[in-house]
Amino acid sequence: MNELKKTAVIGQPIEHSLSPVIHNFWIKKANINAASYEKIEVGPENFNRSLDKLIDSGYYGLNVTVPLKELAFSRCDELTESAKKTKSVNTLIFKGGKIHGTNTDPVGFEMSLHKELVEKNINAKRCLVLGAGGSARAVVFALDKMFAEISIFNRTSEKAAQLCEDLGVTAAILEKKDIKQQTNSFDFIVNTTSLGLSPSDTNNLIDFSLVQQKAFVYDLIYSPKESSFLQQAKANNLNFQNGLKMLIGQAAAAFYVWHNSEPPNNEELVSLLEKL
Ligand code: ATR
Repeated sequence: MNELKKTAVIGQPIEHSLSPVIHNFWIKKANINAASYEKIEVGPENFNRSLDKLIDSGYYGLNVTVPLKELAFSRCDELTESAKKTKSVNTLIFKGGKIHGTNTDPVGFEMSLHKELVEKNINAKRCLVLGAGGSARAVVFALDKMFAEISIFNRTSEKAAQLCEDLGVTAAILEKKDIKQQTNSFDFIVNTTSLGLSPSDTNNLIDFSLVQQKAFVYDLIYSPKESSFLQQAKANNLNFQNGLKMLIGQAAAAFYVWHNSEPPNNEELVSLLEKL
């Protein structure tokens, strides 16, 4: 019998990561030849040493989370297009003596969206991305593939310009004053900033009373389940979604890369995660 495939997530902090719940749910359901998916605390200062140890101890794949995605990118021998463009790796595969890296965040974002939503609010539509950090790179990469007309607003506008240059994407870089003037023209508004992660944060980047009714609002944050951003969208009767399905989508793509098997039963998983 083949050895059980070993996988885990590394990052810091790692205690609250939901990835073990997701992957172990699928490993059980799919009845595949895999060991229990672990979570391992690794800080940036120990990244290289820890990675070598994990490879030596027989790991087949790792998910990489904050703050290690850029470090993982620089350790890879082979990279997929999504990793090269976003300069970020969230999934590692060790095979043939090489480190392979991909970034499944863009496809995870795409998988989280309903087909009708993409047709109605994204494809050839005006999409506003708030933020220009690592998550914004994944979202802009994915939106560009869906033929969105992209505008980006970030507190530090140079970072938005750099993001476009790295991705090779054409987007309007907005200043604070442009946002107010243009708010009523957007069909899709996505928050990728970390503003709202802490329940005491208020995300006031948008005046939701100016947003048109047919617009769709998305926040990558899934904990809290309804961020202040989504609460404001709700109060203005707008349709909205949090980042839980993107979290599941990026995990599903990693699972497929490692196990060559489509993860089963996502509705059951969503309700399981929503109860946590
Ligand atoms: P992630 O990997 O989750 O995207 P990140 O790369 O650290 O995290 O990016 C965080 C994003 O949230 C950035 O766009 C950051 O803006 P700056 O580039 O100006 O730092 C944004 N952000 C964080 N705190 C913010 C705040 N209080 N107001 C506005 N934007 C904020």
